[in-house]
Amino acid sequence: MSSNISLSRYLVEQQRSKGHIPADLRLLLEVVARACKSISHAVNKGALGGVLGSAESENVQGEVQKKLDIIANEVLLEANEWGGHLAAMASEEMDSIYLVPNRYPQGEYLLLFDPLDGSSNIDVNVSIGTIFSVLKKPEGNQGVTEQDFLQPGKQQVAAGYCIYGPQTTLVLTVGDGVAMFTLDREQGSFVLTQENVQVPADTKEFAINMSNMRHWADPVRKYIDECLQGKEGPRGKDFNMRWIASMVADVHRILTRGGVFMYPWDKREPHKAGKLRLMYEANPMSWLIEQAGGAATNGHTRILDLKPGQLHERVSVVLGSRNEVERITQYHAQI
Ligand code: AHG
Ligand code: MN
Ligand code: MN
Ligand code: MN
Repeated sequence: MSSNISLSRYLVEQQRSKGHIPADLRLLLEVVARACKSISHAVNKGALGGVLGSAESENVQGEVQKKLDIIANEVLLEANEWGGHLAAMASEEMDSIYLVPNRYPQGEYLLLFDPLDGSSNIDVNVSIGTIFSVLKKPEGNQGVTEQDFLQPGKQQVAAGYCIYGPQTTLVLTVGDGVAMFTLDREQGSFVLTQENVQVPADTKEFAINMSNMRHWADPVRKYIDECLQGKEGPRGKDFNMRWIASMVADVHRILTRGGVFMYPWDKREPHKAGKLRLMYEANPMSWLIEQAGGAATNGHTRILDLKPGQLHERVSVVLGSRNEVERITQYHAQI
């Protein structure tokens, strides 16, 4: 059932009655949502819009870029650069930070994004998304440097994602729990469809790319091995497995019905720290999960406490239902 509360009204209430966000952050989030709407339209057109397939370029992560990775990045940059709320942006698809051009007013926020998450699913019509995170520019500095972005995730002031699936859903936190907004295509607006999202503490469902099993570290092997033993094993219950290969879709499922998601460090080179990016993927998703009562660690430490050493840093990720994340983290301490 839809609530008749639009994203705009939700944000106004967060500003006015709850005092959680200042007006310029509210306006910035409106712009991010508008950009996501536009990316959603491009995704929906698919082959009709000529947006499928690869481009002839690689990003700084060493990945071949898909056309939609580049389109989504452009849409986000163009939508956000002129509004006056931002000082700079950073993206999975750009080598270095993007300064708001001098011809526009400079704001006090920094926006980070994974413009298109789940690139390998674009051409096969499986859910993909946009992940974003907002930080405040440190005070007192003139101009912006990469250093200003290197803040731990606990300093985020807003974070969320927009999933382009059977429905387009925007999921947001400004530190007051997690709210979900479904895009009403006739109205052209995001409508609040769930508030106060909660991840159950226990689960019988895990998400991991099992094809990497031979590369895993021992604590991860032990955890998954116990899950696979089912009722007869030490866990005394059967587990189900899901792996969509779009973090947005896996996290969306966990926010909806619980579960644990892992992309752990493994022995493959060169991604010694894991595959996922701390600042564009792990931080925003970890904050959402924590705001919904779940937990997120890198196997040892709370992800939101990690101080990034560089913009494109990668990290091991274990997130979701609290008791499972705690168990996996304990295994890392023991083994
Ligand atoms: P991206 O498409 O933004 O590069 O991110 C893909 C990530 C993440 O969404 C997903 O969980 C993971 O890569 C899937 O990796 P595998 O293909 O190794 O399973
Ligand atoms: Mn990528
Ligand atoms: Mn991604
Ligand atoms: Mn991406």
